[in-house]
Amino acid sequence: MSILHVIVLAAGQGTRMRSALPKVLHCIAGQPMLKHVVRTASTLQPQKIHVVYGHGGDLVREQLADLDVEWVQQAQQLGTGHAVAQALPAVPDDAQVLVLYGDVPLIERETISRTVALAHAGSFALITAHLDDPQGYGRIVRDADARVTGIVEHREASAEQLAITEWNTGILAANAGSLRGWLKALDSDNSQGEFYLTDVVAMASAQASVIETVQPQRIEEVLGVNDRVQLAMLERAYQRDQAERLMRSGVSMADPLRIDVRGEVSAGIDVWLDVNVILEGRVRLEDGVRIGPNVVLRDCQIGAGAQVFANCVIDDAIVGCGAMVGPYARLRPGANLARDVRVGNFVEVKNTTLGPGSKANHLTYLGDSDIGAGVNVGAGTITCNYDGANKHRTVIGDGAFIGSGVELVAPVTVAAGATIGAGSTISKNAPANQLTLTRVRQKTIVDWKRPQKKSPI
Ligand code: UD1
Ligand code: CA
Repeated sequence: MSILHVIVLAAGQGTRMRSALPKVLHCIAGQPMLKHVVRTASTLQPQKIHVVYGHGGDLVREQLADLDVEWVQQAQQLGTGHAVAQALPAVPDDAQVLVLYGDVPLIERETISRTVALAHAGSFALITAHLDDPQGYGRIVRDADARVTGIVEHREASAEQLAITEWNTGILAANAGSLRGWLKALDSDNSQGEFYLTDVVAMASAQASVIETVQPQRIEEVLGVNDRVQLAMLERAYQRDQAERLMRSGVSMADPLRIDVRGEVSAGIDVWLDVNVILEGRVRLEDGVRIGPNVVLRDCQIGAGAQVFANCVIDDAIVGCGAMVGPYARLRPGANLARDVRVGNFVEVKNTTLGPGSKANHLTYLGDSDIGAGVNVGAGTITCNYDGANKHRTVIGDGAFIGSGVELVAPVTVAAGATIGAGSTISKNAPANQLTLTRVRQKTIVDWKRPQKKSPI
């Protein structure tokens, strides 16, 4: 097999998106469409991926700077043939070229891999599909022996050709040297005054090249995005796939149409997802995890048997086996809950470890803290970790008991087994196994009278 170069066309304006954002930066599953295409292309391990950009090019390059691609500018959009020609000078003659589109985001590895495999040694492979009425698409013209002889654009097609149901997806693979020759011979003598990539098919056919056609497994793979309606449709197709993949791997869900995956999820068996769970970034759900409704999980790991109740947001955090979180809890970056921890409603945890079996069940903020095992944090407890300039740590030893409504002014340490009385403001270290409290003595003012409203006259 010769080496492979991928050319991704992404220079079009995308007028029908009605957007200030270049079309290929619009997202499917939280990632720009162009990124999906480049990611899929890279699974074929090509020598290089060339992205032909134009409209809003600076923004595209800026936002996708981390992609390992060659950026090729097409200053003027003179047609798909012209676009491919911009990238070809960097491709050697004996290489193979695969042409993809930045606005056809769901193309799959298996399909393009078959296409490349068919386009060996000088022949030409084209992905085509069938629709009853392929409105707007180029039609595949075949001779009496069913050999492909050309592609005719919708605008240029005769009534007879318009009845053809096989349409051109635009995705093709060919030898670079041949393609270079054909592209040089293109003219723009057509209704749009553009250099049509599709015209190379007739040239290839005239030179007796075999033109192979490949069908996608599913139509969504080859559908392009021209407006926001089509974008939403492909988003749903993508999400249905993700849900199906998860269900096949052992995840049950209340409604497969009501979860969204915007990243990479790996899951064990017997996982349960209620409705409106959003999974972003890298999420790992171990065996038996249960996630309640309206939960956002981002870049996190949820240990075996752990339960996350309704309306939690978990971001860049680790939840240990058997732990219970929420409802209405927020775990922020660096929250690390050991096994069997309980974090209850309206509790926020940031950059804090909680040891095995520790509990913070209600209305609490734990930030920049190291909390041991078996600690009980009472309702309304706050770690005062920020002095307005710097963050400081709070350390709480194993088995400590923090009463309700306590402020822990960091840096501060509560030693193992210590008890802190409710309502205390602790700014000095509290010794092990003792009761420590700061509390103004309660007093009652005798004969005190509640003020009365003055009468208006
Ligand atoms: C093209 C095909 C048509 C096919 C259809 C599938 C041609 C002449 N026609 O038509 O047979 O059925 O796609 O969707 O190729 N682009 C550039 N630079 C340009 C022009 C286009 O990068 O100068 C990019 C666009 O951003 C877009 C893609 O190429 O991603 C297709 O261009 P578009 O103008 O949409 O082609 P169609 O008319 O839809
Ligand atoms: Ca198009």
